[in-house]
Amino acid sequence: MKYLIANWKANKNLSETRLWITEFLKSIDNDSQTIKKLDNNRIKIIICPPFPLLFPLKQMLDGRKNIVTGCQDISLVEGGTYTGEVTAHSIESFAEYVIIGHSERKKFFQETEDEILKKFSIANKYAINPIYCVATENTSYPSTVKFLCYEPPAAISGGDGHGNFESVQSILNAKQELKVSKMIKFIYGGSVNRGNVANYINTGQIDGFLIGGASLDPIHFYDIVKLA
Ligand code: PGA
Repeated sequence: MKYLIANWKANKNLSETRLWITEFLKSIDNDSQTIKKLDNNRIKIIICPPFPLLFPLKQMLDGRKNIVTGCQDISLVEGGTYTGEVTAHSIESFAEYVIIGHSERKKFFQETEDEILKKFSIANKYAINPIYCVATENTSYPSTVKFLCYEPPAAISGGDGHGNFESVQSILNAKQELKVSKMIKFIYGGSVNRGNVANYINTGQIDGFLIGGASLDPIHFYDIVKLA
């Protein structure tokens, strides 16, 4: 199974989400090969919009097999008097996955390793699958991680999906350094787009992609899905 994870970051409103999903599903529905891959559990598409769009997006997906919603973060608290927080409990019924420890959370919101570990355990407690991000090949991660995303910050695009191309060899070296076991799905993120994704897929050693800028355009994202 290959995982195609769209990380919309802080982009899109409700009407833009409707337009995106209409275009995206139209492309999928015209492509019997991709439908077959979804039906046969060969690919899974995880769309991670901003929190307020999670529920409407889930409704728009209408229970389609292997096209699901995820969120980009969860609160450190589980509930209570914390104005403005979005907890795992609030979203557990409409997010199947959550991105934990993205480097932008560390860079812009000073998220610490301890907080990331706490979020990881909260996600597990609420049965939201954590996609655990590491920025370097020497970062440690919990032994129970099932989805490990290697995303070197220098490779992350400025929002258009066309940043520094991380060589295939350096990603595979990082995978080795990180001692990724067979039980772990190894995800790569950083300027993945329709022009370079085949290089990564062809290694046969990368189980999925976290796609930022290139996921904002439904046709561009569909083109990546088609290649997976
Ligand atoms: P990018 O973002 O594809 O725009 O580089 C990836 C990410 O940060 O998740």
